Amino acid sequence: MSYVVAVVGATGVVGREMLNVLAQRKFPAKRVLPLASKRSAGSEVTFNGQKLTVEEATPDRFEGVDVVLFSAGGSVSRELAPQAAARGAVVIDNSSAWRMDDEVPLVVPEVNMAAAKDRPKGIIANPNCSTIQMVVALKPIHDLSPIEHVIVSTYQAASGKGHAALEELERQTADMAAGREPEVKVFPAPIAGNLLMDWKPGEGGYSEEELKLVNETRKILGAPDIGVSPTCVRVPVATSHSEAVLVRCKDKLTPEQVRKALSTAPGVVLQDEGTYVPGAHPQPRPAAGTDPVFVGRIREDLALPGAIHLWIVADNLRKGAALNAVQIAEGIFTR
Ligand SMILES: NC(=O)c1ccc[n+]([C@@H]2O[C@H](COP(=O)([O-])OP(=O)(O)OC[C@H]3O[C@@H](n4cnc5c(N)ncnc54)[C@H](OP(=O)(O)O)[C@@H]3O)[C@@H](O)[C@H]2O)c1
Repeated sequence: MSYVVAVVGATGVVGREMLNVLAQRKFPAKRVLPLASKRSAGSEVTFNGQKLTVEEATPDRFEGVDVVLFSAGGSVSRELAPQAAARGAVVIDNSSAWRMDDEVPLVVPEVNMAAAKDRPKGIIANPNCSTIQMVVALKPIHDLSPIEHVIVSTYQAASGKGHAALEELERQTADMAAGREPEVKVFPAPIAGNLLMDWKPGEGGYSEEELKLVNETRKILGAPDIGVSPTCVRVPVATSHSEAVLVRCKDKLTPEQVRKALSTAPGVVLQDEGTYVPGAHPQPRPAAGTDPVFVGRIREDLALPGAIHLWIVADNLRKGAALNAVQIAEGIFTR
């Protein structure tokens, strides 16, 4: 069998990566339709070495399409995802629009692929990038002993905010190298040589991004009582998010138990020397362009016996977005 696949947001950083991942993993696509806004209709994107012409995403474009990968922001997904589902397509949505809807499964294939079977709205949600990499690493630990509390600080790449943000980091880095004051357009302040908390406000003094880590982690792990204490930070890194995580489970765990569980966990590459070695830890630069969730710096907390620290790094555009969406499609169409 082969399928007609549409990518909405095909000109964006995630959409382009979706086209790459579909080609690299040889998803059985008989036709790929790159869709975006009217602005970029007529432009070209590359799929499997071929140029494809981008068309405007309108409801009628979904006729005869088997699977639609949405990556064009929440308002586009809210409007067009039901239109695609009504025409019989399976929708895999990368925006935050549907993630917390009770009738929409929120899926990370290594963790809860079975949830994708029950999709009354025809829509499956792809979690937020920072949540995906964290739950891939947490699930094997949760299976050892139920997680009670996670404290997470993120170090998130500029590309997590889209292509314009990535270009701003590159431009500002060049400005600073040339001794010029960095020009600010996309971020609220310079990102080059700086750290920012630039997400929209959520509730209770948290950003929306921080609350996504709380709510999505609980939904994916099916554990509504897990405590999650998040701080999200944007760093001047192009691609790959990093996370410092402290996890406390019902039972006290040892670093050895956690290392052993993670050494065979799907989607995880353990990069841990068992002791502190400067520079020998997962890093965002080498992780960029790769598929795994890299985990290292596994160690017991000094003040909380049995609580374990982890350092988790993954490419936000691949496992954090495009790869996860394509893996969901594979789970539905090719297994
Ligand atoms: N970047 C990440 O790491 C990441 C991770 C997880 C989830 N996401 C989510 O993925 C989505 C896209 O993010 P991105 O980072 O790829 O952003 P981006 O680089 O800014 O790309 C946005 C894409 O959306 C398209 N678009 C905008 N308005 C549209 C409209 N009215 N109709 C159809 N297409 C429209 C754009 O097309 P034009 O070229 O026509 O403007 C472009 O293809 C967002 O919902 C984001 O939250 C991103």
